[in-house]
Amino acid sequence: MRYIIRIAQLGHSCFHNTDSFKILFMIFLNRMKLTNNSREYGFISKTFHWLSAAALILQIPLGFYLVDLDFNETRLTIESIHVVVGLSIFYLTILRLIYKIFNPTPSLGNSIFPGQRLIAKMNHVFLYITILTITISGALKKLFNGEILDLFFFNLEIKDNFELAELFYDIHIIANYCLIALISLHILAVIAHKVLFKENLLKRIL
Ligand code: HEM
Ligand code: HEM
Repeated sequence: MRYIIRIAQLGHSCFHNTDSFKILFMIFLNRMKLTNNSREYGFISKTFHWLSAAALILQIPLGFYLVDLDFNETRLTIESIHVVVGLSIFYLTILRLIYKIFNPTPSLGNSIFPGQRLIAKMNHVFLYITILTITISGALKKLFNGEILDLFFFNLEIKDNFELAELFYDIHIIANYCLIALISLHILAVIAHKVLFKENLLKRIL
C-alpha cells in the first residue's frame, strides 16, 4: 500500500517530466521481484513454472491423441508438433534446473504435519525426474527407430535398434502415467492445504 501511495504521489508531482517514467519503472522493477529469496518465488521461477505446466497440459493429451491416428499427413504434422513441444519442454526443464542451482528455493515454513516438507520436496524432485525421463525416452524411441532427430541446435542420427526403440517407448508411456499421478497429487496437495489447513499455497507461485 505504502508503495502504491508513493507511486501515485510521484506520478502526480512529476508526470510532465520524462524522468518520472524512469522513476516509476524503477519502483515497478523493485516491487516485481525477479529472483527467488528464502521466502518467496520470483517472477523468473513463476514464469518457468506456468510455461512448463501449460506446455505439459497440452502435450499429454496430444500424445494420447497421436497414437490413435491413422498414418497420414495429419499424423505426421501432429507428431512433429509433439516432438517440437516435447523438446522445448526438455530444454525449458534443463534451464529451470540450472537456474535453480544459482537461486534459493523458498522454504515451506513450519510443517503442518510431520514429513510434510519431505513429501512436498519428493513430489517436486519426482516431477523433474519424470519430465526428463519422458522427453529423453521419446527422443531415444525415435532415434533407435532410425530417424534423424532435429534437436534445434543440431541434428542427431544413431544406428537403429528396434528392440531398444520398443523399450524406450514403453518407458515413455509408463513415465507419462507417473507424471499424471504426480501432477494430480501436486494439485490435490494445493487444494488440501486450502480446504483442510486454510493455507493458500497458490499465492506463492502466482
Ligand atoms: C501441470 C504441471 C505442473 C508441474 C509439472 C508442476 C511442477 C512444480 C514444481 C517442480 C514445483 C517446485 C518448484 C521448485 O521449487 O523447484 C512446483 C511448485 C508449485 N506448484 Fe506446480 N506444477 C504444475 C502445475 C501446478 C498447478 C496447476 C498448480 C495449482 C493448483 C500448481 C501449484 C504449485 C504451487 C503452489 C507451488 C509452490 C509450492 C511451494 O510452496 O513450495 N502447480 N510445481
Ligand atoms: C514432456 C514431454 C512429453 C510428453 C508429456 C509426451 C507424452 C506422450 C504420450 C502421452 C504419448 C502416447 C503414449 C501411448 O499411449 O502410446 C506419446 C507418444 C509419443 N511421443 Fe511423446 N511426450 C513428450 C515428449 C516427447 C518427445 C521429446 C518425443 C520425441 C523427441 C516424443 C515422441 C513420441 C512418439 C514418437 C510417440 C509415439 C507416437 C506413435 O508412434 O504412435 N515425445 N507421448
